[in-house]
Amino acid sequence: MAKRRIAVLTSGGDAPGMNAAVRAVVRAGIYFGFDVYGVNRGYSGLIDDDIYKMNLRSVSNIIGLGGTMLRTSRSAEFATPAGIEKAAAVCRARNFDGVIVIGGDGSFRGALELSRAGVPCIGIPGTIDNDIACTEYTIGFDTAINTAVQMTDKIRDTTVSHDRCCVIEVMGRHCGDIAIQTALAVGAFAVLVPEIEIDFEKDIIEKMREADSKGKKHFIIVVAEGVGNTQEIAYRIRQETGFDTTVTILGYVQRGGAPTQRDRTVAGLMGYRAVELIKNGEDCRVVVMKNGAITDLEIGEALSMKRVFDRDKYKIARRLSI
Ligand code: F6P
Repeated sequence: MAKRRIAVLTSGGDAPGMNAAVRAVVRAGIYFGFDVYGVNRGYSGLIDDDIYKMNLRSVSNIIGLGGTMLRTSRSAEFATPAGIEKAAAVCRARNFDGVIVIGGDGSFRGALELSRAGVPCIGIPGTIDNDIACTEYTIGFDTAINTAVQMTDKIRDTTVSHDRCCVIEVMGRHCGDIAIQTALAVGAFAVLVPEIEIDFEKDIIEKMREADSKGKKHFIIVVAEGVGNTQEIAYRIRQETGFDTTVTILGYVQRGGAPTQRDRTVAGLMGYRAVELIKNGEDCRVVVMKNGAITDLEIGEALSMKRVFDRDKYKIARRLSI
């Protein structure tokens, strides 16, 4: 009897820990008796049949590497019915029993479409943003916040030495999780996130003036990129308070580098679970973390869930920054 076959791809923005997840899929797949295929460049590579057979050694020494060895893309063609049909035809021709998609919710929407086209798909959440409603955790988040904290600690040195205000923009797309975790960990004076509207005059300017009058001469303000106007924020602070105010956009530095222990471990557990699901004949599921444990949900249901921002953490960050 022909061996059963699994394909694995990474899609959307790369995230530290994606390699550890690919390794887990390949090793678990082979352990359970599958042939495992790597798809290069996400859904673009699936459409182009840019696929190769992997073996145990294909994933040696990648567990601690950032980026993704399979490379990734945001495929415009795959967003069309014709693109989905092309990709599904490739999967049928190659007799894949399942495709494992490591990426964010955009990638899961693609997996849902591919499933509807008759190709069993399983999603694994991989994005630094931690912005997927159905899971408490996404692979890459821990590395990203640790990087943001390390970078902000370095910026603090010059901020204190020069009595400056440093406005630091972190990633996260429309989600403030990287910002709030970073702010809590560095003891930021203020944090701005897209989920919470603030009274800029009262919450930033007046608060800075009051702190200044009590002897505080340096300020670290963390801004989530989703707030959208970091340069303007800094300009306003400079104009209204007189503090020498600079902007640092951390950018892709947050997406790079060796994954932390947490990202590697979660990636291993989620990758293994995804293979188990295919082995058990499951389709259209996404692996998630719930109450700290690894479990899974139907993709459509997962995508319909609404994210709830942790307002308590925001409140505490504010209360600690007086
Ligand atoms: O989703 C991950 C992420 O890094 C976001 O934080 C950011 O908004 C986006 O990707 C940047 O995307 P690109 O890779 O297209 O620059």
